[in-house]
Amino acid sequence: MTDLRHPIFARLYPRIAAASAKAGSDAHRAELLAGASGRVLEVGAGHGANFPHYPPEVTEVVAVEPEPRLRRAAMAAAARAPVPVSVRPGRAEDLGLDTASFDVVVASLVLCSVRDPLRALAEIRRVLKPGGELRYYEHVRGSSPRKVRFQRYADLVWPFLSGGCRVARPTDAFIPRVGFTVRDERRFEFPGSGPPNPASPHVLGVAVRD
Ligand SMILES: C[S@@+](CC[C@H](N)C(=O)[O-])C[C@H]1O[C@@H](n2cnc3c(N)ncnc32)[C@H](O)[C@@H]1O
Repeated sequence: MTDLRHPIFARLYPRIAAASAKAGSDAHRAELLAGASGRVLEVGAGHGANFPHYPPEVTEVVAVEPEPRLRRAAMAAAARAPVPVSVRPGRAEDLGLDTASFDVVVASLVLCSVRDPLRALAEIRRVLKPGGELRYYEHVRGSSPRKVRFQRYADLVWPFLSGGCRVARPTDAFIPRVGFTVRDERRFEFPGSGPPNPASPHVLGVAVRD
């Protein structure tokens, strides 16, 4: 069964994402996709917040989304996208797509939520052509013991409120473990100010399939 139902989260997420866009995530999404080209797979595309940011050098986007409500919203967003986008059900851990068939895979704010991130990354690697790029924008485990402690407490409830997302997950440490070389990565706090937020440590980067 491919579908993953998170009906309350799916209702709320587009509003959360709109607020986050105003705070700066639109600029992060544009940075994530700048320079992408060829055939692209986006895993866990949500309601399609990245679609407006694909550059014209991208010839096709295949967007996989397991949550039915978000998938319907992504289909509507695909119709308005500047490049051809098709949306289909699927999970990152078992994509059911051909080996070495994509130039780029995009993962934004999704590896925090997949049930098995190492398996998802191995599957992403499988569908990438040799030399292909994983472009990622993820919130990750913090770098201070105090922050990690805060994140571990938050993870007692956070996954129930956020569609299974875990804030203490060290996604950035997993990427080089499964056959990728990190080419560029920057780490930053987002939002950079305001009340303490367990999901504030972010990475934005490009890793190349070995
Ligand atoms: C926080 S949302 C991010 C959506 C979108 N990528 C974005 O940048 O706005 C997390 C997304 O991951 C999806 N997701 C959860 N588990 C997944 C899995 N195993 N495979 C693929 N996507 C998954 C959710 O349905 C949801 O759309």
